[in-house]
Amino acid sequence: MKSLVSINDLSKSEILEILDMAASFEANPNRKLAEDKVIASIFFEPSTRTRLSFETAINRLGARVIGFSEVTNTSLSKGETLKDTITMISNYTDMIVMRHPLEGSVRYASEVSKVPVINAGDGSNQHPTQTLLDLYSIRKTQGRLHDLHITMVGDLKYGRTVHSLLMAMSHFNPVFQFIAPTELALPEEYKKYLTRQNIRFEEHRDLAENIIDTDIVYMTRVQKERFSEPVEYEKLKNTYILRNSMLERTKPNVKVLHPLPRVGEISEDVDNNPKAYYFNQAKNGVYARMAAICYLLGINNM
Ligand code: CP
Repeated sequence: MKSLVSINDLSKSEILEILDMAASFEANPNRKLAEDKVIASIFFEPSTRTRLSFETAINRLGARVIGFSEVTNTSLSKGETLKDTITMISNYTDMIVMRHPLEGSVRYASEVSKVPVINAGDGSNQHPTQTLLDLYSIRKTQGRLHDLHITMVGDLKYGRTVHSLLMAMSHFNPVFQFIAPTELALPEEYKKYLTRQNIRFEEHRDLAENIIDTDIVYMTRVQKERFSEPVEYEKLKNTYILRNSMLERTKPNVKVLHPLPRVGEISEDVDNNPKAYYFNQAKNGVYARMAAICYLLGINNM
């Protein structure tokens, strides 16, 4: 039994195998490969894309989904522990997809559970299936994963998608640029990680001047829900806004990615630019999640 809590729970070859499975699902999405399975979708934090794309993936695989997206409707609101909750859900199901605001909570759940657990985002820590769809989107648009120039912009401190993606991309010899306000700079632990992996990175402050030579612009939202002081969020939220005019001097192959939701950091005038890829990226989430579910359940779709 294998859970997916951190992207580093997968080797490079496992990641590539899942991306190939995702491509097969994109070519042929309605495959009833998991008709005998029941999968729990338990979300302790709000979500649009992750929950609905997981539930779409489960339905397209012919499996059934149970779960909740409101903790108030569960016995957790009566004081039941997370341990007892996960034990019970793993008695009923073949797999658990879980989002939770606390870092480490999904790892804990995977240790308690009798069935595989997929991390759908734990606090500011990890969001491994977002990384799989990000990698899928990068490979699809660039034709490769190796030797790319990737610029990550915005909230690099609390942005869990950034943390997972930079770890996964480290398999593929990237050059990173990080553009963030000082208060939201990439935490030291991730810089040390990249240094240990011999991955080159630079930190910059100016957005327009530093995306000219890049292949991927990975925009992120400032994570309001992680701030204890609302005034601090208000001060930082509009530090970086990508505008259509900024893309004029960029490379022809560049793609703008964003895990979404956006709240203003990509101007709507970018949406019709062929370099904008964020809505297609979110659609790729269904195929990547079908692949991740099958991989962890030991179902071959090839
Ligand atoms: N990218 C992402 O996790 O979006 P949701 O919060 O809507 O699931």
